[in-house]
Amino acid sequence: MKVTPFSPNCGAVVSDLQLATMNDAQLEQLRDAFTEHGLLFFRDQQLPPEEHLRFANRFGKIVVNKFFKTTEESPLIAEVRKEKTQQTNIGGGWHTDHSYDDIPALGSILVARILPETGGNTQFANLAAAYDALPNTLKTRLEGLRAVHSNTHLYGENGLYRFTDLKDQLGGMDRVGDATHPVVITHPQSGRKVLYVNPGHTIQFEGWEFDKSRELLDELYAHVAQPQFTCSFNWQPGSVTFWDNRCTWHQADNDYQGQMRLMHRITLQGSELEAA
Ligand code: OGA
Ligand code: MN
Repeated sequence: MKVTPFSPNCGAVVSDLQLATMNDAQLEQLRDAFTEHGLLFFRDQQLPPEEHLRFANRFGKIVVNKFFKTTEESPLIAEVRKEKTQQTNIGGGWHTDHSYDDIPALGSILVARILPETGGNTQFANLAAAYDALPNTLKTRLEGLRAVHSNTHLYGENGLYRFTDLKDQLGGMDRVGDATHPVVITHPQSGRKVLYVNPGHTIQFEGWEFDKSRELLDELYAHVAQPQFTCSFNWQPGSVTFWDNRCTWHQADNDYQGQMRLMHRITLQGSELEAA
């Protein structure tokens, strides 16, 4: 198995490995690569739903998303679907999965099932690299802060998604809720300091006025979204990505109107996040 950086600060490509048939030693190597990069890309995989599930179960424990439809094949696999006729896509803005849970997901394994001819890339950002590059004054300002993460503004009764053509494929309106987490966490595996806020779910710093939060959050978001911390993955049939939700953001390009795109996602359970 070979692990090659995808871009200087964002992701790595794992080659010479079939996820479906890897042995235990390779799985351990894969864990190390996942800890080091937080974002792994795989090409030319044969990973039907039962093998997708088996890989997820070998790596960790599966956790089910509260809002997404699941696949016909398994209630443990979420469907990230955009029909030809739909305008809105799932995950179209920068976010990290499940940060609104008290114990956010460790990571997500996304498998391409039906792809548009071109477009439909997924962009990623590296929040450990972004944290390291913050000016010291800003690092000091973030010390000890906690932030509120929510899903109500997206999936609640009056949430954004309810006013789009995605509304019929989302459930869980009554399962919305918030959680608070440290703004700078120590990554449970790598031990690196990571900036843990994201545009999709973080609504404000705990105990701060909304406007003051907004100002600082926007400054942090602009910092993270810079090219040196981000990359864009072009899906091909057989592509798989596996990202760590504690140290990356992602967003899906919505540049393929009139075409269909279908992905299968399995999310893995994480652990409570500790302040750095
Ligand atoms: C997700 C997601 C991005 C994509 O599955 O969590 O945001 O590119 N998907 O489909
Ligand atoms: Mn997502």
